Amino acid sequence: MREDILRKENELIVDYHEIERLEPTTHIYNGHSLIESKISIMRDISTPSSIFRKLVEEVTKLMAFDAFSHLGLEDKEVTTPICETVGKKISGKKQVLVPILRAGLAMEQPMKDIVPQARTGFCGVYRDEVTLKPQKYFWKMPKDIENREVFVLDPMLATGGSADFTVSELKKIGCKSIHFMGIIAAPDGIELMQRKHPDVELFIGHLDKGLNKNGYIVPGLGDAGDRIFGTK
Ligand code: PRP
Ligand code: URA
Repeated sequence: MREDILRKENELIVDYHEIERLEPTTHIYNGHSLIESKISIMRDISTPSSIFRKLVEEVTKLMAFDAFSHLGLEDKEVTTPICETVGKKISGKKQVLVPILRAGLAMEQPMKDIVPQARTGFCGVYRDEVTLKPQKYFWKMPKDIENREVFVLDPMLATGGSADFTVSELKKIGCKSIHFMGIIAAPDGIELMQRKHPDVELFIGHLDKGLNKNGYIVPGLGDAGDRIFGTK
């Protein structure tokens, strides 16, 4: 990468540090050719909202390949055009998708395409622009959520405050099996989640370098909600 670009990126970061330890439950796809190339188009300020949203969907589906790889299977009889055989179907716990409003909404449909039986709960939080602390404004979960496997969806894991808040609230209502899926993360967000929720599996498209003084991920992609919904 060009030296001058690297220098500019690094100058923006308030607290640059490497993550000391990535837990085995943290899955990061830096270097994955499809995910890297799609995220680079998302980062580009000139990428229009319609393409940005499409790329959120594509990256979510690529990560879902891994996030769902542990789902249990049971036998199922199938008649092919050639013979009878024993195939497989997904068994065990059903899933609940929990998009964090607003930006997480764009990750819900691609996940639903893959697990159409999943239910959806909504967590509305926004970051206070000054304190960067999450402010809750909406909460609606399916009734039997505590018996299901929960996938919290949000493209951005920056300070980690919004994800931590959502996961903590889900635990309070009895959820035991929780996963988090995000497209870009800062080291701060990963560290907070690993420390406070070591039981939660993290699936992250790209680990970036750090946060700037406004709490935005560097190099990041800007405000994901604004880019998805064209609000700026
Ligand atoms: C963004 C993003 C996350 C949060 C991440 O939402 O979608 O929810 O910030 O930052 P954190 O890790 O520091 O909490 P935002 O508050 O901008 O709301 P929006 O999706 O409605 O734009
Ligand atoms: N929220 C966003 O949408 N982008 C960031 O870079 C940080 C938080």
